[in-house]
Amino acid sequence: MTCQSAVEAALLEVRGLRTEFRTDSGTVTAVDGVSFAVAAGERIAVVGESGSGKSAMAMSLLRLLAYPGRVAGGEVLLNGRDLCAMTERQLTAIRGREVGTVFQDPMSSLDPVMRVSKQMVAPIMRSPGLSRAEARAEAVKWLDKVGIPDAERRIEAYPFEMSGGMHQRVMIAMALSCRPRLVIAVEPTTALDVTIQAQIVELLKDLTSESGAAMLFITHNLGLVARFAHKVAVMYAGRIVEFGPVGDIFRAARHPYTQSLLATIPGVGATGTDRLPQIPGTPPDMRTPPTGCAFRERCLEAHARCSEAPTLHGRNRNCRVS
Ligand SMILES: Nc1ncnc2c1ncn2[C@@H]1O[C@H](COP(=O)(O)OP(=O)(O)OP(=O)(O)O)[C@@H](O)[C@H]1O
Ligand SMILES: [Mg+2]
Repeated sequence: MTCQSAVEAALLEVRGLRTEFRTDSGTVTAVDGVSFAVAAGERIAVVGESGSGKSAMAMSLLRLLAYPGRVAGGEVLLNGRDLCAMTERQLTAIRGREVGTVFQDPMSSLDPVMRVSKQMVAPIMRSPGLSRAEARAEAVKWLDKVGIPDAERRIEAYPFEMSGGMHQRVMIAMALSCRPRLVIAVEPTTALDVTIQAQIVELLKDLTSESGAAMLFITHNLGLVARFAHKVAVMYAGRIVEFGPVGDIFRAARHPYTQSLLATIPGVGATGTDRLPQIPGTPPDMRTPPTGCAFRERCLEAHARCSEAPTLHGRNRNCRVS
């Protein structure tokens, strides 16, 4: 599948990415030929139902997939260098420095019994010419920016002394303090309550736009993305089924799956009842990925052409929904 939004001199260009999980009951194709590009400073949201392959795709980019996941094909070009072809050592130099990460569960990255100062200062000191005192001052500055009160004192706290929202703020400070060109945020708000979710999204938007970093933001919450993303990639059954500027997608989604997903957001296409609409049916079993449009079994507008292998043209011209 090709995506014509691939821009020249993209910061990140993903080409034909395939990710598999080999299990006793068969090989799950979690990411099935995904291609897209992220320009410098661009914020892209990746959305889709549970199981659509968002996390598998995001974790594949820096080869952070847990066993039995593996990248089975494709290229991940960061400034033209293929991360899939790099050694573990080369990738380690890129993780954190050039590409920062923020995960759903910050405690998977934070050591609960190591002071925040110790966890933040060492990575910042990898920048040449910075003394420990300067790196610590930089860490305090970032904690302050992410809204940690009394950062000068709180930097000496242990993560176990902080709330979930604070952990996520510390993770964001850690990710941005090394001044990455790209931030990959994987469901960074899922574990937080609704008001904190909006604050964290705003924070990521403000800080990345201030530093000029691009962002790939993975979420199953379409309602969160409207105000912060430049573009949206909609995933279904391991593929990107629609990709485009956020305004176009929200105003005039073309793929029936995107339309169904949008209808699940309260206030955007809401039905007027108290119950949120759900998309009827279930996603396909990715041990046997369907040919043609994977959504067609659940699609009320399916027609004969939907059994052909779909191609992304600009915004999905071959899924004819007008
Ligand atoms: N460890 C694993 N072993 C086998 N299959 C897996 C594993 N992890 C994910 N999968 C499968 O890969 C596919 C993509 O999963 P993934 O976690 O990427 O979805 P997601 O879009 O991130 O969903 P969610 O919104 O629930 O986080 C699913 O079919 C899932 O069942
Ligand atoms: Mg996920």
